[in-house]
Amino acid sequence: MIILGIETSCDETALALYDSKKGLLGHILHSQTTQLMKHGGVLPEVAARSHIQYLSPLLSNLLNKYNLNITDINAIAYTKGPGLIGSLLTGVTFAKTLGFGLKIPTIGINHLEGHLLACMIKEANNNSDYSPPKFPFLALIASGGHTMLVQANDLSSYQILGETLDDAAGEALDKTAKLLDLNPPNGKELSKLAELSSNHQQFSFTKPLIRKNNLNFSFSGLKTAAMLKINKKSLSEIDKANIAYAFQVTIMDTLISKCKLGLEITKLNQLIIAGGVSANNYLRTNLLNLCKANSHIKIFFPKLEFCTDNAAMIACTAFLKIQKNNRCFDQDIDINALARWDLESL
Ligand code: KG4
Ligand code: ZN
Repeated sequence: MIILGIETSCDETALALYDSKKGLLGHILHSQTTQLMKHGGVLPEVAARSHIQYLSPLLSNLLNKYNLNITDINAIAYTKGPGLIGSLLTGVTFAKTLGFGLKIPTIGINHLEGHLLACMIKEANNNSDYSPPKFPFLALIASGGHTMLVQANDLSSYQILGETLDDAAGEALDKTAKLLDLNPPNGKELSKLAELSSNHQQFSFTKPLIRKNNLNFSFSGLKTAAMLKINKKSLSEIDKANIAYAFQVTIMDTLISKCKLGLEITKLNQLIIAGGVSANNYLRTNLLNLCKANSHIKIFFPKLEFCTDNAAMIACTAFLKIQKNNRCFDQDIDINALARWDLESL
């Protein structure tokens, strides 16, 4: 069976082809970086129009690349939510129309579950050992819109142990990157700037909620503290790099200490890191060190290209669900998307 995955929850138009026997054949995406640079952030209406423009040509490119015909697709998985409603609706409409035309089933996938299972993607062209995590495990999802610690008991069976009370980690990184005049304004650029830091002590921030014995996060006060430092005086490029370093370390150390606490509380021994922020090098290195020091804990990261939004994770999640229960497909052809969709309700 070949599953076409479609992801359009925000500003990435992404498609993937997943073969149920071989694994992920390939994936493709278009990021709206020029629009991000022009508008300083995502404009929902512009993002939705861009998806409409790119979905069809990207699908043709992907099929051509793998020498497949559109009729070789046996099922279509699409992101049903959560996300920007206009963007989601473009993907749902594309998926359901194509499914109806080809007389093949469709399945709506939760974007957060997609992120959470991204480290289970098996690549068809990769012969190295495939040893994904096994349920139950602890998962940190840290993206532009969400930051949460989740106990994953099984497919579609998740318990949120803690989440952000205000801004997501990625959102705080993006807004601070913008104040530091980074272009396009995001966490990846902030982390590149942090690498140029020559004085790690020049600035420091308080780690939010670190002393609280719960698994919640809060990043909006930290973001304001950074804004006050940035606005206070005219900063040299080195000052900016030093602020970027201190800010990044504070966010990532906070995520790490909540992961540690989550492992202690749940007594789970597998930790999965997912979402765009999981691409962060400081976070990955320090979590790996944590696991080296605690040999009973195993850590899993998605490959870098599967950390940020992509359709491979959507297709893979659909594959795992179909494999478990082949009656999980949509029962109607209604065009529905969910701007909010709680992981615990799956
Ligand atoms: O998962 P994602 O692509 O989209 C959402 O579902 O939100 O996550 C995007 C977030 C952005 O906030 C971006 O700043 C952050 O992931 N991000 C990073 C890195 N790459 C992307 N944050 C820190 N370090 C990175 N290397
Ligand atoms: Zn995402």
